[in-house]
Amino acid sequence: MKFHIITFGCQMNVCDSDWLSYYLQTLGWEPVAEEEAECFIVNTCSVRDKPEQKVYSLLGRLKEYWEANPRCFVAVGGCVAQQVGTAFWKRFPFVRLIFGTDGVANVPAALQQIADDPDQRISLLDFLDEYPERENRFPAFLPAQAFVNIMQGCDNFCAYCIVPYTRGRQKSRASRLVLDECRALVDRGVREISLLGQNVNSYGLDDHGDGVSFAELLHKVAAIPGLDRLRFTTSHPKDIAEEVIQAFGSLPNLCPQLHLPVQSGSDALLKSMGRKYTRKRYEKIVRDLRAVCPDIALTTDLIVGFPGETDQDFEDTLQLMRLVRYESSFSFKYSDRPGVRAERMTNKVPEAVKQERLQRLQALQAEHTIQALEARVGKQDQVLVEGRSRKSDDETPCWRGRDLGGRIVNFHGDAPDLVGKIVPVTITKAKKHSLWGEVSGSPW
Ligand code: 5AD
Ligand code: SF4
Repeated sequence: MKFHIITFGCQMNVCDSDWLSYYLQTLGWEPVAEEEAECFIVNTCSVRDKPEQKVYSLLGRLKEYWEANPRCFVAVGGCVAQQVGTAFWKRFPFVRLIFGTDGVANVPAALQQIADDPDQRISLLDFLDEYPERENRFPAFLPAQAFVNIMQGCDNFCAYCIVPYTRGRQKSRASRLVLDECRALVDRGVREISLLGQNVNSYGLDDHGDGVSFAELLHKVAAIPGLDRLRFTTSHPKDIAEEVIQAFGSLPNLCPQLHLPVQSGSDALLKSMGRKYTRKRYEKIVRDLRAVCPDIALTTDLIVGFPGETDQDFEDTLQLMRLVRYESSFSFKYSDRPGVRAERMTNKVPEAVKQERLQRLQALQAEHTIQALEARVGKQDQVLVEGRSRKSDDETPCWRGRDLGGRIVNFHGDAPDLVGKIVPVTITKAKKHSLWGEVSGSPW
């Protein structure tokens, strides 16, 4: 079978899609461009805006392939699938598999059944009690960067967030299995691992934990011989342990980069969002991180126009941004999600106000981003190359990778293939969202 995967949303979805792709390839399925596919896998996200609409319009487009070839079918997975469930079948007869995040492990077998039997439809929507362990099958060639899931779900129930409803309660994965997977990846040449979870700082604290804390897990993974770079995401500030902060000063391969979603700079809003930390506590975490790792690149998530947000609350957020000076941020207008606490709050902020605040916030972030990038000029960075730069022309190959802080760096280099190599690059120029540099050492 020829398949094509379309992924929306977070890195956990990307990780699930990668796993599916690798696994299907070992069954003899072939990843192809959309126009050639017989099986489409759509991995959906429902965290913001009108995600169902996005999926419906995509399915409307995919329908044409099925009309041209009735053998074609679609599998819908991820958070929207979990929410909408088998209602998809009524509207879209060519959707023949629906799977939630706990069902991914059984998707390859289900797809095989569906491909063999044109009358078959399957739903895999149950939440499991345990972390849904799955067998790893790696293709012959792996990229140098890999994601490794360490947990599933979230127990925080922030007032705006649908994740605990679509991904279920937090379930930590056994540390032994996380380590086995990391070792297997490094054995196959992986140089950078990102540990993934909705809230990695509370790893091990649920009933499924095996006594190993997140800080301990970090130390164990960092000690795997041959692992050059370690990152993790996402961190909830309320759960970040002192030992994790200290790890940024003591683990040489832990990259100086942290995504630490703050959401708002106003204590009143942090409280009504149910974030369970104060601005003072957040500021202390930032100070402590910079004390052990002065160069740490901090990024964040911000919501504007949460119900009840006043002009002053919003100014508090801008002021926090000026204090922390994030390298970059993801910022969103608050949007109602079905069933969450904030949906029932009455003091909603008008759309025009949300829009205006978002623009102001993003303009401030753009200033901070360019200043942060300009501060890199003249420095030498270690760049792990991900591929050819889009700006490549035939005469002088251009490469694109990430420095230790996670910033995108482009540079010219004559070597035939630098993908997967770490290249010392001296930064010469800052663009709006990326850096340019010159090779200043031997690739390794
Ligand atoms: N409205 C706007 N933004 C949201 N996020 C999550 N839920 C909502 C919502 N209902 C944002 C948060 C979170 C990121 C993944 O998405 O900032 O950190
Ligand atoms: Fe959503 Fe809060 Fe859990 Fe993050 S920590 S997934 S924002 S409920």
